[in-house]
Amino acid sequence: MKSNYLRVIVTFLAGLWFLAKLRSYKVAVEGSLDLCLLTFLIPVVMELTLTRQDAYDMVVERIGVNNLLKHILAVEAGMRRLAEHFGEDVEYWGLTGLIHDLDYNETKDDEPRHTYVTRDWLKEYELPEEMWRAIHAHPGHTPCETRMDWALYAVDPATGFIVACALMHPDKKLASVDEEFMLRRFGEKRFAAGASRENMAACSQIGLELGPFLMLVREGMLRINDELGL
Ligand SMILES: [Fe+2]
Repeated sequence: MKSNYLRVIVTFLAGLWFLAKLRSYKVAVEGSLDLCLLTFLIPVVMELTLTRQDAYDMVVERIGVNNLLKHILAVEAGMRRLAEHFGEDVEYWGLTGLIHDLDYNETKDDEPRHTYVTRDWLKEYELPEEMWRAIHAHPGHTPCETRMDWALYAVDPATGFIVACALMHPDKKLASVDEEFMLRRFGEKRFAAGASRENMAACSQIGLELGPFLMLVREGMLRINDELGL
């Protein structure tokens, strides 16, 4: 939140400077003009930006430092890697992954409210509707439509599946897991049974076969390997 406070302060000081400048040039400034300028500045001040650091701090505050945080960071990393692959906005896709489960602790026993509580918490940021559509679609509340919707839908279970692959591998390392190893495990229904095969297979909706899709998500996760402890 620090960056938003900073933005408010900087905007306020800029407003004061602007008013002072007008006066120094002896422009006829009526009281009503001051009021108009302040009315203009208020929405600027109120329009807050959700930075990656703000979102990360919120996740740690709401989720804690545990395996769910690792899952969330893995989804963020997978989304970033896919955005790179498709030439999409890496920060935007990453931020969507980072906040996708923000309300999990509050809604785990009330699934229909999952993601909608997050939206309520973050309403002051006026995040794009496209971001909310992907977040609401990932647990199946709404249909996937865009590439980002399908990506989040498929990446969400893929991260847990890839972690399970790493733990099952003789080396117990993510770096040792290859495409063939993951595809063999994918075919074993009892392996990581909680990771929805149907969701992961939806990677076909974004033009990726399962093997390359899993390898891209794994590549993204490898970049934060220290945080994931794999
Ligand atoms: Fe998730």
